[in-house]
Amino acid sequence: MNFHIVSAVPELLESPLGHSIVKRAVKNELVSIHIHDLRNFGIGANKQIDDYQFGGGAGMVMMVEPLDKCISYIKDSFGDHPVAYMTPDGDRYTQSMANKLSLESGLIIICGHYKGIDQRVRDHLVDYEISIGDYVLSGGEIAASVLVDSISRLIPGVINDASSALTDSFQDDLLAPPVFTRPASYNNWEVPDILLSGHDAKILEWREQMALEHTKKRRPDLLK
Ligand code: ADE
Repeated sequence: MNFHIVSAVPELLESPLGHSIVKRAVKNELVSIHIHDLRNFGIGANKQIDDYQFGGGAGMVMMVEPLDKCISYIKDSFGDHPVAYMTPDGDRYTQSMANKLSLESGLIIICGHYKGIDQRVRDHLVDYEISIGDYVLSGGEIAASVLVDSISRLIPGVINDASSALTDSFQDDLLAPPVFTRPASYNNWEVPDILLSGHDAKILEWREQMALEHTKKRRPDLLK
């Protein structure tokens, strides 16, 4: 999977994507992450990328031309990948969208800032408009990092234990069951006996039961 992230503040992406599983995936060449500084496609000596909105109103809008040029450059140089725009008024991001996007060979992700991007970019250049939840972030970079992280862990070979990603919450519309590690007893807080029994079939049954109960209690909407 080849990610191309278009950002006006590329520094914001360095830390979330520079550690742990994503870092290892990049090192092992299972995932590549290219960060494109939109300013390099800015207009004029000042490399302008945003302007006041037509019709008046507070807040700057990211201009069509720098985004168009940047997307064309990426498509010409790296392949005609679909374009996702991170925006609070997009489709709500879910595990099934992550699963679907993980099948692409590449993805271009636009991070918005200020008041958003010129609508013509959305109308003519964007394939997916994605929100990570009903709240407003200062920019799309954190949302883009969420996308990259959640998709990367689905790429074969990224997670050592192949079954691990499949047992994550949401993979089967259920939340994950509780997990425990050593010590078996701490402060008289005990690990359920069944998990210490060594009886694989019973443990599996218990986990399924707990996942169901947990989902009923916390996210009944997932069961509908
Ligand atoms: N940009 C700002 N807020 C966002 C959100 N909730 N989801 C995706 N992108 C965003």
